Amino acid sequence: MQQQIRASGPAGGIASHAQYRCRRPVVSTRAAVAGGKVYIDPVKKECTAFAPATVANLGPGFDWLGCAVEGEGDTVTARVLPDQPGKVVIDKIEGDNGRLSLNAADNCIGIAAIETLKLIGQPSCGVALTLHKGLPLGSGMGSSAASAAAAAWAVNGLFGSPVSKDELVLAGLASEAAVSGYHADNVGPSLLGGFVLVRSCDPLELVRLPFGGSDPLYFVLVNPLFEAPTKQMRAVLPRDVPFKSMIHNSTQGGALVAAILQGNARLLGSALDSDCIVEPVRAPLIPGMIAVKAAAKEAGAYGCTISGAGPTAVAVVSDAGVGARVADAMAAAFRSEGKLEINSKVVVRLDPEGAKFV
Ligand code: HSE
Repeated sequence: MQQQIRASGPAGGIASHAQYRCRRPVVSTRAAVAGGKVYIDPVKKECTAFAPATVANLGPGFDWLGCAVEGEGDTVTARVLPDQPGKVVIDKIEGDNGRLSLNAADNCIGIAAIETLKLIGQPSCGVALTLHKGLPLGSGMGSSAASAAAAAWAVNGLFGSPVSKDELVLAGLASEAAVSGYHADNVGPSLLGGFVLVRSCDPLELVRLPFGGSDPLYFVLVNPLFEAPTKQMRAVLPRDVPFKSMIHNSTQGGALVAAILQGNARLLGSALDSDCIVEPVRAPLIPGMIAVKAAAKEAGAYGCTISGAGPTAVAVVSDAGVGARVADAMAAAFRSEGKLEINSKVVVRLDPEGAKFV
């Protein structure tokens, strides 16, 4: 199917792809000026996208820094729903043990799809969605963001990808705000890949941070069988922060950014380890977390903290073999000190691409 903008009404016509990409200015085409409706057609009947897990915060980067990691993620298929412009339905969700709502307005893929259709403009059809959850819910690995990112990328793909990944973060942000909290540090990197600094949510301003240098970089992620819903973990955050803590976390946040740009895994791990504002109030709510952090460093990690809102713990290493030993030590500490079983333990690299078609 050819990508096109279909215009109906007295002054209908076909707009170019360039106009399509500048979606908002399209309103100034002849058809819109004449009061006609401009519809945007899909270019395929079905589109499937995968979006990766993310590690947000990275310690002192609370709500403003995150990165995408290889391995598991969520997959969404978007299918054309003919003759129902703008309508979003969820056909099926797999891998959630029946826990997620099939009502589009209450589900992160539904919300992200609705918002993506709005960003696209006036679609001539609706979309039906299927979600396969590869990430556990409430795990601290950006589960809701991966769903939203995959949905946004799949729906956008149906229409020939007229909206940029940066702009689609807005759709993911709307979804995150509804289900987890107003933060883009998961959905940004899940869509864009790599490290993403969220300079501002309103207006949205994202800064991609390339990992420089040639240091190998691995993340050790250990996910215990325990749920820490982001909404609840945000409810415990302090309202006020001592001036000294603000200075400490700002300094360490600066070190995090420097470490990424310089490609310095050791500095990255040590800065990630040093949050004195959020981690101290959340760690006691995750059984064994304090011992897990100590065990990771004892086994050779450069640093360890809570991934996202938890309960997953993340450590940084620059060698896969060391990573395997660190993972074992962290898992053992979750078992012995937290009395928690382990759902998964992996040693993974950065995912440079983010959401992708499959
Ligand atoms: N910045 C968010 C938080 C990430 O820590 O609450 C949640 O994954």
